[in-house]
This record gives sequence, structure tokens and C-alpha cells, in this order.
Amino acid sequence: MNKYTNTFEPIFATPFICITWENPKKLNQELKNVILEKKKVDEGIKISNVGGWHSKQDFLTWEAPCVEEFREMILTSIKEMLIKVEGELPAKYFTNWEIEAWANVNEKGHANASHEHTRNKNQWSGVYYVETGEEGSHQISGETVFEDRFYFSGENVFTQRVPSQCINGNPKVREHKITPQSGKMLLFPGTLTHRVEPYLGNKTRITIAFNMKHPDFGVFAYPNSAISYSLKGLIKLALKQKMKKLGWIK
Ligand SMILES: [Fe+2]
Repeated sequence: MNKYTNTFEPIFATPFICITWENPKKLNQELKNVILEKKKVDEGIKISNVGGWHSKQDFLTWEAPCVEEFREMILTSIKEMLIKVEGELPAKYFTNWEIEAWANVNEKGHANASHEHTRNKNQWSGVYYVETGEEGSHQISGETVFEDRFYFSGENVFTQRVPSQCINGNPKVREHKITPQSGKMLLFPGTLTHRVEPYLGNKTRITIAFNMKHPDFGVFAYPNSAISYSLKGLIKLALKQKMKKLGWIK
């Protein structure tokens, strides 16, 4: 009985790609111009953003050559992802993507609360850093923080970790932080929760975010969508405020 075999497998890894586009300056300047012009005439919408301007999700319909170029970059990112995850696939899987995208303009103090993107059954999501704003330490740049909420304690495995490294005092939570860099594009599953830390620089910070879905891939209902919960919360709050205004409640 003292002989044995075993297998070790780090299960449930999350597919995540970071693409660094070369020489992005010209494109970024054009994207910046288009976005700031739109901001002047459109008040935008509020979803997970805490302050800042969030455009409608119709960015890819804005008429400008840089927008078309950006659409192609998104398609390249999903192609790279699918090849990594599945290997070569028939061409139809690299086209026919339904994509919605929106621009975010953040000033000092603006952030995005924790959320994910399964609203409307999105499969993949991404973000592109157009303008990082004030260059400086990672603490001021409004890092994008991806959140592992599988509740496995790192301290149980990694002897060098100390309790002070726990996230918000919770040892069962892991996070992956990305410092913004102009020309970087991230692509990740729509189910992966993330947030944007408060941006503390003095110059404008601009990003473009996007969601993707494709009819030839399975689309699940995601009944426990966190975003649906937060939207319910926002609707409740809005109703409460309205009722207060009307004097129906205190
Ligand atoms: Fe997001």
C-alpha cells in the first residue's frame, strides 16, 4: 500500500489576454479627439462608473476611420484568444461577432465599482487604454483590478504570504492588478468581476471598453449576474428617492 501515483492540476484558470499594440500614438490621438468631441454633445450614461463620463454603448457606430480601425483591433484580440483557448478554428468563429463598445473619460477621483459584464449574455469583455492621464505610480493611475472570488485562501498554500497581504482583511480573496498603459488592450471572460481603482492624476484618463457575443458559441442565462443585482439596487434606490421627493416616505 505504500506505492501510489498522483496528478496535480491547477484547475479553473481564467483565460486572460493583454495585447500591447505597437506605435499607438497616432490612433490614440484620433480616438481621443473623437471621444472628447462626442462628450461635448452627449451627457453619457451611468452604469458602474463612480463619476466620470461613460458614453452610450454605440461607440462602434461613431463615424470615424479610427473607430473602424478599433473594431478590427477588437476582432484581432478575440481571434488571438480563441486560438489560445481552442487552437485553429473555422473562419466563421472569427467573424460575426456582435460587439458593443463605449468610451470612458475619467478625471481625478473617478472610479468604477466592482462589476461584471454578463448583462445581455455577453461572452467576452475587454478594455483599451487610450490615454492613461497623469503618468506616475500605479497608486494614482486607476488600476484595473480583476477579482478572484472562488474563496480559496492563498495563505493555505504560499508560506511567504502574510495576513497583511489579504484583500480588505479577507484571506480568501485574490486579485490581479493591471496598471494602465496607452496602447494596451485586455480581453477576458464577461463573467470575471473587476473594478477600477480611483484615478488620482490631474490629466484626463480615457479608455474604451467593449462586450462581445457570437451566435455560434453557447450563451447562458447567467441567472445570478452581479450586474443585474446592482442594477436592481440602483432601480430600488432611484424609486426610493422618487418616493421621498413625492413625500410618500421619509
Ligand atoms: Fe467593466
